[in-house]
Amino acid sequence: MRYGVDIMSILEILDHVGEEVELRGLVAVRRDHGKLIFINLRDRSGSVQAVFGPWCETDLYEKAKTLRSEWVVKMRGLVKERPENMQNPDVPTGKVEFEVKKLEILNEAATPVFDLQTDGYEVGEETRMQYRYLDLRRERLQKNIALRHRVIKFIRDYLDTEGFYEIETPILTKSTPEGARDYVVPSRLYPGSFYALPQSPQQYKQLLMAAGFEKYFQIARCFRDEDTRGDRQPEFTQLDLEMSFVEQEDVMRLNEELLIALVSAIAPDKKIKEIPFPRLTYAEAMEKYKTDRPDLREDKENSNELAFCWIVDFPFFTKATKGEPGYTFTHNPFSAPKPEHMNQLMDKQDVGSILTTQYDVVLNGYEIGGGSIRAHQPDVLRKVFEIIGYEKEQIEKNFGHMLTALASGAPPHGGIAWGLDRLLMILAQEKSIRDVIAFPKTGDARDLMMESPSALDTKQLDELHLKINKKEK
Ligand code: AMO
Repeated sequence: MRYGVDIMSILEILDHVGEEVELRGLVAVRRDHGKLIFINLRDRSGSVQAVFGPWCETDLYEKAKTLRSEWVVKMRGLVKERPENMQNPDVPTGKVEFEVKKLEILNEAATPVFDLQTDGYEVGEETRMQYRYLDLRRERLQKNIALRHRVIKFIRDYLDTEGFYEIETPILTKSTPEGARDYVVPSRLYPGSFYALPQSPQQYKQLLMAAGFEKYFQIARCFRDEDTRGDRQPEFTQLDLEMSFVEQEDVMRLNEELLIALVSAIAPDKKIKEIPFPRLTYAEAMEKYKTDRPDLREDKENSNELAFCWIVDFPFFTKATKGEPGYTFTHNPFSAPKPEHMNQLMDKQDVGSILTTQYDVVLNGYEIGGGSIRAHQPDVLRKVFEIIGYEKEQIEKNFGHMLTALASGAPPHGGIAWGLDRLLMILAQEKSIRDVIAFPKTGDARDLMMESPSALDTKQLDELHLKINKKEK
């Protein structure tokens, strides 16, 4: 990255040994050694040892003495090869040092509240999240966010080559039956009415198929008001995609190929355990591993092993309450049943044994994605809602737009969504998706840096026609 003729990133100086250049960055550490002052100067690309010594005028030397960690500086100096016995093979710039000739302090910095030279696991979450911009400066998180960028860029380029359009869908939308609680936004213009934030773009992407776009994807933000865990955030990101005129096999193949290409391009040191990815039916997985997201790694300590598998043949419906009549869907009400179970669905016969076209992709014991072929005929979708026990009016009120769209000439279609944060967590060898998200929420769904959620003042509440029902103490 070149800022000007001789201003460069730290890593670039390796190509400019013997030249005078200008660097900008932050002071990571300052060490005084009598007549020499060493500064570890850091920017996004890396760090280098900068030295102030006898060649410095007194003013410059005195100024160097005032430098503290995280101060922002601009320096002009000479890139010098270090004598062989002084070279540090552990650092990319360990062959050189930077003899400073000029120093400008661009900003001072308060003493950081925690050490930024470590990986940060030892720092309490509350403090890390409150000062997230500091936390993000550490090398580990810089690497994770860079990895995230490269993964998303790869996906975009790959799907573009495959003929997909990237299309954004609304954030202010309507409740969808994804199974989690919605985040809602009160409407100012329509007293007592609310938007819901999307749990996923499921309905919109199907409407895009009805609209004739054939191949859609989106790096989509999703919102679910559910309890946060290591692999769950209230606000998370999916790679969401949908395709027309496809069958289960087509969607699975495209995604498998994309995952393999992604790993070999972005994480070549990782080894995929088995290609093609093994496929297990839900029944097999439950019988053999007692879970529908088995960890198939041979050596669970080996961090470079990626054991992908597909889980297929899920039951479409499950008893809403054990032992009582009434069913609910296991994954996605918009799915089609397996073709051989279509008649059974339409006749509402032995509902518990109907299998859906749902396919989940599992990696090292985490469900990193799931999708299905959809019901593209309105009668099929209507039947699913009937089985779940929705009344006729309820179906029309909540899903009338979907039924009408399907009746308008919607092609057969299907798709998938990956939990992008989960995939990144595994690629980055992290234990929590919080470590691959720039600004995640805490375990109890707060943003400690912004102090969110927060109260509204009375004027805002009035505008939104809201009254807070304060709990009695
Ligand atoms: P599903 O609800 O299975 O499917 O979500 C797809 C993938 O998203 C990830 N995921 C999450 N990641 C982080 N935090 C969360 N709270 C969270 N919830 C889910 C998982 C999951 O596999 N519309 C369908 C997809 C489709 O059928 O095309 C859907 O959203 O990795």
